Amino acid sequence: MSRAENTADFLFPHQHLLGIEGLKESDINCILDLADHYVEHNRKTNKKTDILTGLTQINLFYENSTRTRMSFELAGKRLGADVINMSSSGSSIKKGETLLDTASTLNAMQPDLLVVRHGNSGAVKLLSRKVNCAVLNAGDGKHEHPTQALLDALTIRRRKGRIARLTVAICGDVLHSRVARSNIHLLNIMGARVRVIGPSTLVPSNIAELGVEVYHDMREGLKDCDIVMMLRLQTERMQGGYFPSVSEYFTLYGLDYDKLSVAKEDAMVMHPGPMNRGVEIDAAVADDLTRSAIQEQVEMGVAVRMACLDLLTRKKRNLEKEQIKERIKEGRS
Ligand code: NCD
Repeated sequence: MSRAENTADFLFPHQHLLGIEGLKESDINCILDLADHYVEHNRKTNKKTDILTGLTQINLFYENSTRTRMSFELAGKRLGADVINMSSSGSSIKKGETLLDTASTLNAMQPDLLVVRHGNSGAVKLLSRKVNCAVLNAGDGKHEHPTQALLDALTIRRRKGRIARLTVAICGDVLHSRVARSNIHLLNIMGARVRVIGPSTLVPSNIAELGVEVYHDMREGLKDCDIVMMLRLQTERMQGGYFPSVSEYFTLYGLDYDKLSVAKEDAMVMHPGPMNRGVEIDAAVADDLTRSAIQEQVEMGVAVRMACLDLLTRKKRNLEKEQIKERIKEGRS
């Protein structure tokens, strides 16, 4: 049986998707299996379905975003939902409205799905307590970015056939990266071996407690890896000097063919985007379609987000269908 069969019976036992931490392997497999189905669906000419017709999705972004916001927007629209985008610029947030007041205001408009990105770790969880609908974390500070880890997992599983027992190196600015944190949780849950590689200033001192091996030398850390995940140097979250210069950072930690040569011959290169060419990754490696899965990650992103939007509204949609059936039955009797 292919993984994508029987997806109609899947039930996700959580009200929100706030992080990967706390999910079970079965929860992750449920999302990935359904996402596999949506990958095939998205390759068709007619991508529109009516699964979420009548439902309202609000994307609330307090931080800049290109691919995550667009991906959530496309995902909602392809499922038939009414999707509204709200960013901090041009809204009452600029007039001083607090996060929780904005949450209450949006909640009064009866949305079914709220997709939130915020600069503070924990802000999305706080907001989820103030609303009645499903909340999806699209990145909160340095904490988590669950749909990024899920789309990375889907990319890996489709290319390598499995996640368990693969050696995955997460490289660069781990300290400021919610992508790294969500990926570490997910890869551990799925049974991969996780290494983090970066300068000691950009690797949290207690990261080993999350069950990873720590390296400060790229060639040592990349040795025999199956997957090389590069991270952007997140200068917008840095105050002060974490590294001497960009050119020195690239020399020591930028992924080029030379450093990649110590990984497995078929090692796959990933990056969540946006990437800084010549800073954390050499342009030639990033554009090498035989090694880099960066474009595939973007494609998987839409499918994974469709799966999440679908699963998080299933209980509610099923309940309403049941109630309609009941009313019809009562009317007849
Ligand atoms: C990541 C993010 O925002 O955390 N980007 C993304 O969602 N694709 C990583 C980054 O900004 O470097």
